[in-house]
Amino acid sequence: MKTIAIAGATGAVGRQMLECLKEQNIEGNVKLLASARSAGKEIGGYVVEELTEDSFNGVDYVLGACENDVTKKWMPWAQKAGCVVVDNSSAFRLDPNVPLVVPEINAADIKDHHGIIANPNCSTIIALMALHDLDDLYDIESVICTTFQAVSGAGVKGISDLERELKDENAAPEAFAYQIAFNVIPQIGGFDENGITSEEWKMQNEGRKILHSPELNVNCTCVRVPVWRSHSESITAKCKKPIDLDVWRKKLADSAGVVLRDDPKNNLYPMPIDTTNQDKVFVGRIRYDQADPEQKTVSLFCCGDQIRKGAASNAVQILALLMKDEKSA
Ligand SMILES: NC(=O)c1ccc[n+]([C@@H]2O[C@H](COP(=O)([O-])OP(=O)(O)OC[C@H]3O[C@@H](n4cnc5c(N)ncnc54)[C@H](OP(=O)(O)O)[C@@H]3O)[C@@H](O)[C@H]2O)c1
Repeated sequence: MKTIAIAGATGAVGRQMLECLKEQNIEGNVKLLASARSAGKEIGGYVVEELTEDSFNGVDYVLGACENDVTKKWMPWAQKAGCVVVDNSSAFRLDPNVPLVVPEINAADIKDHHGIIANPNCSTIIALMALHDLDDLYDIESVICTTFQAVSGAGVKGISDLERELKDENAAPEAFAYQIAFNVIPQIGGFDENGITSEEWKMQNEGRKILHSPELNVNCTCVRVPVWRSHSESITAKCKKPIDLDVWRKKLADSAGVVLRDDPKNNLYPMPIDTTNQDKVFVGRIRYDQADPEQKTVSLFCCGDQIRKGAASNAVQILALLMKDEKSA
């Protein structure tokens, strides 16, 4: 029996990973790791251990759910112990030796790993689940996207900011720069000299790698909204070829991991509340951009639970593929 460790098991993503292991019927011994603060806590019948240099001895796979600095510190220990790591932080996503994988899109990239596979950014996963069929059919050239990102994207501290502010509007924010209850904040990450945030660069940089489209251009505005778990995204994509909406809609309707909710006459479209606590990405509000007479540009709205498909479920799907490959080797 293989041993699977979750590093960061007490966080928003780590806790969800434990549930996803059960849901996806992954068999193995499970070890939960976090900081010294959490040692001895019980989660799902397992006792959390402090993450130390020796934690990975005897471990086969690690699901990483810590911030970048912590991840960079423990990664050499996991490598020394010979583990294969599926990591959720952004520490290794753009490393050319590290596959960046959304299983429905580029599962074949997993085989090129050298001990680390990275899980993409949550908004990037959700956007690409909605866009990859369009890219296959008509070759996407550029994307303009506005995200509406849930508080859970900032981990347990983000969730507790909203909880506290809903009880007391004067509570001091901890995860966010401003009050998030009854508000939206057009900043996620730090700004660069062009006024673009680190979060906004991820969709272009990671999208290029996942879609194998090195010239893809993305103009993204990331906004934090007072929603618990699911991110929403308003996307306009320009393709190199004219788009047949019926052909694309049919492909989306058959696409693994996607629900086409696109019936405006009956007021049916994706909403974050409907995608909460499940793994499918909902896509709808599909229409041509009326400013493009060549019909190469379309707009859509999509939503997905970012702790699940945007993080934990996607990582556990990658782990399942790794374990399957090993069995069949
Ligand atoms: N939230 C999301 O949905 C999401 C989506 C995509 C990617 N990610 C990425 O996934 C990672 C985890 O995010 P999260 O939202 O789950 O964060 P979180 O809720 O803040 O959890 C962080 C985890 O890291 C652990 N940790 C902190 N310092 C540690 C140390 N010195 N040694 C060992 N463990 C330590 C914490 O343990 P303690 O409880 O003991 O402090 C906790 O288990 C981040 O890199 C994030 O960017 C998150």
